[in-house]
Amino acid sequence: MNINKFIYIKLIIILLFSSNILFASDTKLIKQNWSFKGVTGKFDRSSLQRGYQVYTEVCASCHSMNLLSYRNLGEKGGPEFSLDQVKAIAANFEITDGPNSDGEMFTRPGRPSDKFVSPYPNVQASMAANGGAYPPDMSVLVKARKGGSDYIYSLLVGYEDPPSGFKLDDGVYYNKYMDGNQIKMSNPLSDGLVSYSDGTNATESQMAKDVTHFLTWAAEPHLENRHKTGWRVIIFLIILTLLVYFSMKKVWSRIDSEK
Ligand code: HEC
Repeated sequence: MNINKFIYIKLIIILLFSSNILFASDTKLIKQNWSFKGVTGKFDRSSLQRGYQVYTEVCASCHSMNLLSYRNLGEKGGPEFSLDQVKAIAANFEITDGPNSDGEMFTRPGRPSDKFVSPYPNVQASMAANGGAYPPDMSVLVKARKGGSDYIYSLLVGYEDPPSGFKLDDGVYYNKYMDGNQIKMSNPLSDGLVSYSDGTNATESQMAKDVTHFLTWAAEPHLENRHKTGWRVIIFLIILTLLVYFSMKKVWSRIDSEK
């Protein structure tokens, strides 16, 4: 019996250690105090709006976001741009539409109902333009990567010179957080790259934070609603528990008095 117990304890210790080894790369990620974390978490509107600016001015030249339409930028729980702002944003883009009555395709300014314009017509074209690497669509990228928002942020600030002796292939950059430490995307951010319309100082880490915030919303547009529903369910369960408790007391008190 005692030996058995000893084996159990050993097994638990081994399990704890092996899970530590398995998830070791996670602990190295830079952890941010995201406003959307936790059960009461909410997105920071200003950060979402700045993040959209970084996406559209920097990342959108290589990365598509096929699942988003311009009108999403005005929806509740998102960046919440006003309707006029959304219309102006959409009108900045040229959309290929058609065919018209002559059978020709034509271009027109974007409307809020249009999908985000993609930088490349297809995956092959995007790979040809990026040295054979595919810049992944960013609509749900935060959910597709282990470590989520912390991973994306860490990756964006994780460029550095390779350690001596590290053999870096041509057209590949060293990044502390990328699998195998090699990434075919050069560092997309540098201090002062965008000029924020709200006057925030556009440091590299500020832009990385804002664009990650924006990408997190894109991948989970209903996060705030989900948190709200969660609270409603908890309050409902508390009330239900009280009701059940008091009706049970009442029922039993009758039985007790009948004795
Ligand atoms: C010049 C084109 C270009 C620009 C601009 C660019 N990227 Fe990339 N990005 C790429 C390519 C190419 C890859 C694929 C890299 C690879 O597989 O090695 C990539 C991959 C990524 C990945 C996935 C890494 C992984 O784990 O596989 C993330 C996240 C990312 N980019 C974020 C961004 C963000 C955020 C911006 C804007 C601030 C941005 N990128 C701007 C070309 C670009």
